[in-house]
Amino acid sequence: MGNEMRIVTKGSKDRYIFTDICEEHPESLAKLHKLAGENVDTTTTKLDITNLDSIRTMVKDNDVKVIVNCAAWTNVDGAEDSEKRELVELLNAKAPEKLAISMKEVGGLLVHISTDYVFGGDPYNTPCKEDQKGTPTGVYGLTKLHGEQNIQKTDVDYLIFRTAWLYSEFGKNFVKTMLNLTATKPQLKVVFDQVGTPTYAQDLADVILVAIEDYKQALNTEPGTLNYAKNGIYHISNEGVCSWFDFTKMIAEYSSQTACAIQPCHSDEFPSSVKRPASSVLDKTKVKATFGVKVPYWTDSLKTCIKNLK
Ligand SMILES: NC(=O)c1ccc[n+]([C@@H]2O[C@H](COP(=O)([O-])OP(=O)(O)OC[C@H]3O[C@@H](n4cnc5c(N)ncnc54)[C@H](OP(=O)(O)O)[C@@H]3O)[C@@H](O)[C@H]2O)c1
Repeated sequence: MGNEMRIVTKGSKDRYIFTDICEEHPESLAKLHKLAGENVDTTTTKLDITNLDSIRTMVKDNDVKVIVNCAAWTNVDGAEDSEKRELVELLNAKAPEKLAISMKEVGGLLVHISTDYVFGGDPYNTPCKEDQKGTPTGVYGLTKLHGEQNIQKTDVDYLIFRTAWLYSEFGKNFVKTMLNLTATKPQLKVVFDQVGTPTYAQDLADVILVAIEDYKQALNTEPGTLNYAKNGIYHISNEGVCSWFDFTKMIAEYSSQTACAIQPCHSDEFPSSVKRPASSVLDKTKVKATFGVKVPYWTDSLKTCIKNLK
């Protein structure tokens, strides 16, 4: 997700600093240049977001006004490993709190990304709204919910964007996995009993940038005001609804990899250490009304991503 922030902020007059716990992978850097041109910022400053002192130093030295937190423990199955539990909580719940504390101390804004997996325990059959009670089914969703709550406790100015089924040209994700499998396997079973909405990471990054511009404007019109009126949680994915099976069918179709026979199956055919939400469709009414953003339909964005990957 951090690479998409590099792309959408490329022409910005503001100074953005991109941080990570380790160096960016050379393959990602090459892809960044291809997608965003040679002058995209590919520098990465090392920062461990679990270390409050390091965050404070980074904020102070660079006069940081806004943090966009794209880092997390994102391995949903791996989060169930009891030996990893402490680390997952540290990254998904305690680190966001530290980022929030650092922004509270300087009167800045924390933009944080959360997940549709904070839902799922109650089988909602209408799109989930922001104020609906979180009912996570696993450690990943639970620790992400704790992260949201910890941010809110600090009384910082914050925007939490809950998103879903994130994919992009970078890193490992469902689209890239299915592009590979549909190209190499004669047949494939994919679950049809889990529905949600895919999100192209660049579409999410566009919304984050709109929100940051809105925050800057609010600060300009009400100097000295610390409480941003639009503080809160927002749901954002692409438009539409599909199952993982439907998603895979479209990935195969748009990449012209139709030789693979894709069959729908039930979740219990793929035993897993974690129960995933049967339905985690997000209602995006609030984000559209608050920030005036238009959200692309999921198949349109999928076509763009596959075109870029090819
Ligand atoms: N992927 C999805 O389907 C999905 C769905 C809904 C919401 N989300 C949320 O969207 C956000 C972005 O997800 P993503 O898929 O882009 O994640 P990702 O590809 O797993 O990236 C997470 C990044 O965090 C970095 N990181 C790990 N520990 C760190 C630390 N201590 N300090 C600084 N950075 C650290 C990782 O570095 P290493 O690579 O070196 O570990 C990695 O670059 C997350 O908040 C996630 O919960 C994701």
